[in-house]
Amino acid sequence: MTDAQVVDGGVRGDVPALGSPGRRRFLRFLLGFSALSTLGMIAAPIVGFLIPPPSAGAGAGGRVLAGTTTDIAANSGKVVAMGSKPVIVINGDAGITAFSAVCTHLGCIVGYDSTVKQIVCPCHDGHFNPGTGAVVSGPPPKPLAAVTITVEKDQIFLVPGAG
Ligand code: FES
Repeated sequence: MTDAQVVDGGVRGDVPALGSPGRRRFLRFLLGFSALSTLGMIAAPIVGFLIPPPSAGAGAGGRVLAGTTTDIAANSGKVVAMGSKPVIVINGDAGITAFSAVCTHLGCIVGYDSTVKQIVCPCHDGHFNPGTGAVVSGPPPKPLAAVTITVEKDQIFLVPGAG
């Protein structure tokens, strides 16, 4: 009887010996699998961050439905996404208007203040005219960029690249 045939009082049979090519191959497989799993868990959030999700709602003709005149009632405003750009849509005294919602001072997102009836930047109290986008007061150096809209029945559409 040889060492290769008896282990712990039993016959070894088909069980590969410690350090045999089969066991090494299996351990390499496990090591590779766990390394790939770890890399996948690290890479997935990075790839998810670098590749933006599909942008919101460009409809037929590239138009974006911003809402309805019911959603954006008189003397109110709403910030919506036009692709990756925020746009503020206002239903004010000058009718329905839309502008880039990115403040021209340092890039904060503006909102509509119904008490003063102006577009207001919360960061440094910049105020804009909701009819023209012009600076009324505060540090913003330029007016808000106008965004072209079309209103069909009660639906308000933003038209990318037209304004
Ligand atoms: S970022 Fe808007 S006023 Fe400064």
